[in-house]
Amino acid sequence: MPTLANKDACQLLDADHIAVKYLFVEYARLAAAAASPNGRGPDRKVIAMKICDELTVHARIEEEIFYPALQGALPDASDLLEEAQAEHQQVKVMIAQLQAMGTADVSMDALVAELNRAIEHHVKEERDELFPKAKAARGLDLDALGVQMRERQQALEKDPAAAAA
Ligand SMILES: [Fe+2]
Ligand SMILES: [Fe+2]
Repeated sequence: MPTLANKDACQLLDADHIAVKYLFVEYARLAAAAASPNGRGPDRKVIAMKICDELTVHARIEEEIFYPALQGALPDASDLLEEAQAEHQQVKVMIAQLQAMGTADVSMDALVAELNRAIEHHVKEERDELFPKAKAARGLDLDALGVQMRERQQALEKDPAAAAA
């Protein structure tokens, strides 16, 4: 297993995809507990906001570093990359709606579930279509890209306002 520090670009993004999936599962667990008779449970809004923050940073490093590198190395990936960027835009609208919500309730549960479905679809395309192309591309140094993306990710995690800008 690669350590955190030496993941290549695809491994780094995959690790993010898995981490956010765990958060969606945790949110659903808390929502189900709250919906049960007399259920209260801890506030799941904290998890929803963590999902928003992690997806925001993830989308930034893809848009700033990964997608442009792919665009440069793989001219025939243009359609895939355009579709991916359009999906990012849809996700950003949902994130903004979630961040504007008050306490966690059934409408937040519904929106988190919708976001989960959108992310599942998007991640599947990245994993099944973009990553294999990236791995096969000549002249694309996924190790160096991984280092660059990790550094940017760490900087953005320390400065959430910059990540959302
Ligand atoms: Fe993406
Ligand atoms: Fe991604």
